[in-house]
Amino acid sequence: MNPTTQPTGLTCVTMPFAAVDVEVLVVPWFENEGPATTPGLDAAVSGEVSRALSQKEFTAAAYEVFLTGFTDGSWKARRLLLIGGGQRATFGSDRGRKLAAAAGLWAKQRHLQRVGFVVPDKVPVDPAELAQSVSEGLTLAEFDPGQYKTANHEPSPAPAWTIVAAEGIPLSDVSTAAARGRVLGECSNLARSLANEPGNVLTPREFAARISGLAAVDGVRIDVLEDQDLARLEMGLLLGVARGSSEPPRMIVLRYTPAAAPSAPVLGLIGKGITFDTGGISIKPADGMERMKDDMAGGAAVACAIRAIASLGAQRQVVGVVPATENMPGGRAIKPGDVLRSASGKTVEVINTDAEGRLILGDALWYARQLGATHLVDVATLTGACVVALGKITTGLFGDPPEWVDHVRKVANRAGDRVWPMPLFEEYRDQLKSDIADLSNTGGRPAGSITAALFLNEFTGGLPWAHLDIAGTAWAEEAKPYLPKGPSGVAVRTLAELAFTDFP
Ligand code: BES
Ligand code: MN
Ligand code: ZN
Repeated sequence: MNPTTQPTGLTCVTMPFAAVDVEVLVVPWFENEGPATTPGLDAAVSGEVSRALSQKEFTAAAYEVFLTGFTDGSWKARRLLLIGGGQRATFGSDRGRKLAAAAGLWAKQRHLQRVGFVVPDKVPVDPAELAQSVSEGLTLAEFDPGQYKTANHEPSPAPAWTIVAAEGIPLSDVSTAAARGRVLGECSNLARSLANEPGNVLTPREFAARISGLAAVDGVRIDVLEDQDLARLEMGLLLGVARGSSEPPRMIVLRYTPAAAPSAPVLGLIGKGITFDTGGISIKPADGMERMKDDMAGGAAVACAIRAIASLGAQRQVVGVVPATENMPGGRAIKPGDVLRSASGKTVEVINTDAEGRLILGDALWYARQLGATHLVDVATLTGACVVALGKITTGLFGDPPEWVDHVRKVANRAGDRVWPMPLFEEYRDQLKSDIADLSNTGGRPAGSITAALFLNEFTGGLPWAHLDIAGTAWAEEAKPYLPKGPSGVAVRTLAELAFTDFP
């Protein structure tokens, strides 16, 4: 795709607000600001803005909305939606993305067809960066989780969006940025669709087929390793977890090799692809187990990020590795006490079969190294302990060395994925000792997300490595104004943007 053209479904303009021809013009509004900040607007709605502000019907608190009609016939828009933007001084691209998503969800619920979103100016953020994040937010609002509903569900087409940038900003800059945001938003939505699929539909084989389809972009090669390949590579951890299932496992391998890319560094992205996690013989309680269909969200994020990376033409080699299997308690399933031999040669005593993510990732991290990766990032719905530590808002960030981890942290901040660093002090490593093998697959309850990360670290071969535990952030349990219940698409934008940065 040529990112300088206007993206489909979304148009950028710079023109007086009165000339924007849409059903609803969305204008972000900051707290404690009067109508004078947007000349002409208040008069065009017969003073409704100043009235609502002075009566405190609308206070511009974040995501608050106020709808009124344009009465001045010389304005092309039919209605005005003010959306609360919070404080102007603290406004950034993150809130811009969320406001756009909230406005987009509002418009979608009302089946609107043409919606304009005004990108605020005089805010402490680069206009192009803001246009990109607004485009991401509007696109994220298009995600439709209801594909299996047959009644009362007519997925109305997403509105045609118009991004209205401040006059004086070069339109080509805005359009290029918005086109980039469009791709990143669309790839996030693809990852959300995959995470939303039920386990009976999205088996490891189907996951591989879907990824093969969506990653069929210029420059990307896809290989799917099957049973014999996995056996030949002696991937005892992945094969061990797969033993309990009638569905065969897969290792999905993506290679993006742009013509002019240097031979190093090579970014290695690894994503957990458990298409359903029952816990295996250490079976999970029934309550809430249905949620474990999204235990492949990390794998989806990796595949969809690589689609974005290739679509946007990154000049960096990237390999993606997604180990895919169910974790089931079948008659041939691994049992607590079993010892597995990883492809790297290290042996693991399985204390709890529900700690399966780290097992399959161990083989996948090793394989990414064999493919020539020089810098590793893995993404996984890995531990309930991470949800306890950081809740549903923040992804746990682990890794080594600190320069690489900090780089990933900064990229994630810009991309709008909240992450926070967690320690990997060597003293925790004792918790993974086994009496019989090199490692145990669990470290007990204390610091559960840290010992899981330390387990992964055993397979990174000393390469720069960062680990994102998205157990809390992959799925929204409660709707927010900017994010409905369901899969969030976390980490897609972070992984994609990472491919465009210089590595420390
Ligand atoms: N997929 C789960 C982690 C998870 C839990 C993700 C809750 C999302 C929400 C993972 O495979 C798992 O079961 N982890 C165990 C590890 C334990 C047995 C050491 C956990 O967190 O309880
Ligand atoms: Mn598990
Ligand atoms: Zn799991």
